[in-house]
Amino acid sequence: MKPVKVGVLGLGVVGGGTINVLKRNATEIARRAGREIIVTSACARNLDRERICDTQGINLTTDPLEIINDPEIEIILELIGGDTLAKDLVLIAIAKGKHIVTANKALIALHGNEIFEHASKKGVVIAFEAAVAGGIPIIKALREGLSGNQIEWLAGIINGTGNFILTEMRDKSREFNDVLAEAQALGYAEADPTFDIEGIDAAHKLTILASIAFGIPLQFEKVYTEGITEITREDVSYAEELGYRIKHLGIARKTDKGIELRVHPTLIPHRRLIANVDGIMNAILVQGDALGPSLYYGAGAGAEPTASAVVADVVDVVRALTTDPENHVPHLAFQANSITDIPVLNAEEMITGYYLRLNADDKPGVLADVTAIFSEHQISIEAMIQKEPHKGTAKVPIIMLMQTTIEKKMNAALKKIEALDSIDSKIVRIRMEILK
Ligand code: HSE
Repeated sequence: MKPVKVGVLGLGVVGGGTINVLKRNATEIARRAGREIIVTSACARNLDRERICDTQGINLTTDPLEIINDPEIEIILELIGGDTLAKDLVLIAIAKGKHIVTANKALIALHGNEIFEHASKKGVVIAFEAAVAGGIPIIKALREGLSGNQIEWLAGIINGTGNFILTEMRDKSREFNDVLAEAQALGYAEADPTFDIEGIDAAHKLTILASIAFGIPLQFEKVYTEGITEITREDVSYAEELGYRIKHLGIARKTDKGIELRVHPTLIPHRRLIANVDGIMNAILVQGDALGPSLYYGAGAGAEPTASAVVADVVDVVRALTTDPENHVPHLAFQANSITDIPVLNAEEMITGYYLRLNADDKPGVLADVTAIFSEHQISIEAMIQKEPHKGTAKVPIIMLMQTTIEKKMNAALKKIEALDSIDSKIVRIRMEILK
């Protein structure tokens, strides 16, 4: 059979890694796909830049339309990133009847509903395994491997840069900015690293996972998102003392009232496998009603780990080239006419446990006032420790672990406690999950 011709848009870390993997493993890949796969053209903004891949034999251009308009090319790899130019190019390519493989989480999370609609009309496939958790085949696992289950919840470490920062802060007492600079130099961080540390990248990925898990439209704007910039080494070490690790989690949970979608730093018991996922690694824990818990672990960023997912998608698309479009695996796992509108809950409705750190005056009655307020709001205390006073102040840090409660009750209680004269007005709050 004729080889399948592929065009690559973007020759950065992921584009370069993908070309390397496609070339190095060409024989094995062809045996799996049933046809040889060759990259005939690639596009980059600057053709003089040094590359991580060998581009010999590939037609290089600065004009993406030259590739999209090439009638010989059947599959376009969108590896540019961002959600403006990438979106325009993908829509043009779909209109031309090209299948798309993308690693672009922002593109899918923000514009996926529209893109899938166009793709379905044209009968083309949009494959995006590499958009979530780098090389881990979590999209395939959720969409196909777990399709007999009702997904109850999932929780994931889905940003490698953030996990790398938290790990290095904990293990080596390194400074936040120093670790971030290393992640950038290694090509893990987003072009705008605030996307990593403020949780936006994780929220893009969670949006995609939740849609596939629950059969709901992509709704990035409804994800409650909190970053890791406020996490201090002090809290990391108090959490350890209490038997917990702080991880930046993306959590999607189906409740009777709707779906919780949230990204925030989270205390989890240190014995959980996912609490021991360190460095750049990602992991997603999925609770299905039939399977129970299952954990998917691997490299969440980097050239070849991400290329692993891109290439797997290319193989899937090649296998699908001869199937009728109505027999393709649905983009969001559920048939397009079965996507439901279960509401996504607002942040005040989330139900979770809490780690709190209060700075209090060291005098009689202060704790009694605090516990009275929690009691009044029917919030139960699970554990409490008082630490040595801060140097040079009369304030003592009090660390409290609180049992699960609805966020709006906690907001109301903390507002009252922060108004007490004996308590510093800024209480540290980190959410806590048992993940069982
Ligand atoms: N910046 C992302 C991360 C890259 O650190 O996980 C992979 O999506």
